[in-house]
Amino acid sequence: MFIRNAWYVAATASEVGAERPLGRTLLGEKVVLFRTPQGQVSALEDRCCHRLAPLSLGDIEEGGLRCRYHGMKFDASGKCVEIPGQSEIPAAMCVRNFPLVERHGFLWIWMGDASLADEDLIVDCHWNNAPGWPTASGYIHYKANYQLIADNLLDFSHLTFVHKTTLANAGFPNSRAEVEPFDRGIKLTRQILDCDPSPLHKMAGGFTGRVDFWNRQIWWLPSVFENWAGSAVAGGEGPPHERPGALHFRHFSLLTPETEKSTHYFWIHPCDFPHGDASLIDAVGQGIQTAFAEDRWIIEEQQQVMDQFPDVKPKGLVSDVALNRVRNMIQQLVNKEAVATRPVIPVVKQGVTS
Ligand code: FES
Ligand SMILES: [Fe+2]
Repeated sequence: MFIRNAWYVAATASEVGAERPLGRTLLGEKVVLFRTPQGQVSALEDRCCHRLAPLSLGDIEEGGLRCRYHGMKFDASGKCVEIPGQSEIPAAMCVRNFPLVERHGFLWIWMGDASLADEDLIVDCHWNNAPGWPTASGYIHYKANYQLIADNLLDFSHLTFVHKTTLANAGFPNSRAEVEPFDRGIKLTRQILDCDPSPLHKMAGGFTGRVDFWNRQIWWLPSVFENWAGSAVAGGEGPPHERPGALHFRHFSLLTPETEKSTHYFWIHPCDFPHGDASLIDAVGQGIQTAFAEDRWIIEEQQQVMDQFPDVKPKGLVSDVALNRVRNMIQQLVNKEAVATRPVIPVVKQGVTS
């Protein structure tokens, strides 16, 4: 079950052009994304209302998308505007449109009740390629449920063991993040003082000795992870993230369920290098890609074991506190939506229907 009343990243803005439509499965539904020659982006169900051919096989034209089977044309709102050989266009000849917003280099889709699609709820990712923030980015297709990836991102005790050559910091298993729930998710803050920098921080920050590390994270329900992280030379004055010469990352991991067993994983990694060397961004991006391939390896294997043993329940550790919080919050929202969309069964009393 997915939370439907939420903004998810459907695609990067650059993936959706005016040349070819893009078909993508999101939250178990087939969606076609396209951009009109005027630049308007649109998300429609990827199923022509006539004989159910995929509209993602169609052609983009002035003012809409034409089905490749019998040539019906739909505008960006999903309304049929042309039926070859038929002058009358019945109102029922339309396809579902999903609210879609282009912002900060992403196309954000809302697949629930369109009347609730408040654009102010879109997570602020404005650092993406912003001036002064060289940005590495990428996409990973996962053969795993998005909540297993969320678990991973919410428990950094794995860094020491999974990411030995990239993000490992020997202090993680013994450090505890402070966890603070708020109305849209949870916030986590953590500091590890006087530690060896991770290989990635050492390279990007040019550190030659010990550092003070921090991260300040927000899990935005249902599935956006914002991670401000960095390092400063150990022992300086004031909080490490406020010290001159500190290395800063503004990372975002944006998860969009594809199916119950697969996920679209978009990520961006804007950096503020202490020495202003933007050319380091390629090496940082390479490091993140390596680290995320390490996560995918173990999470996809984990999914397979879980599929093999569906009745075996995981056992908890102290370090699971944040992921358990988020799992509970997600379940509550799923339950709330299920109640809101449950069909009303008429009450029958003494032969009278009310
Ligand atoms: S299936 Fe699309 S026009 Fe016939
Ligand atoms: Fe990881």
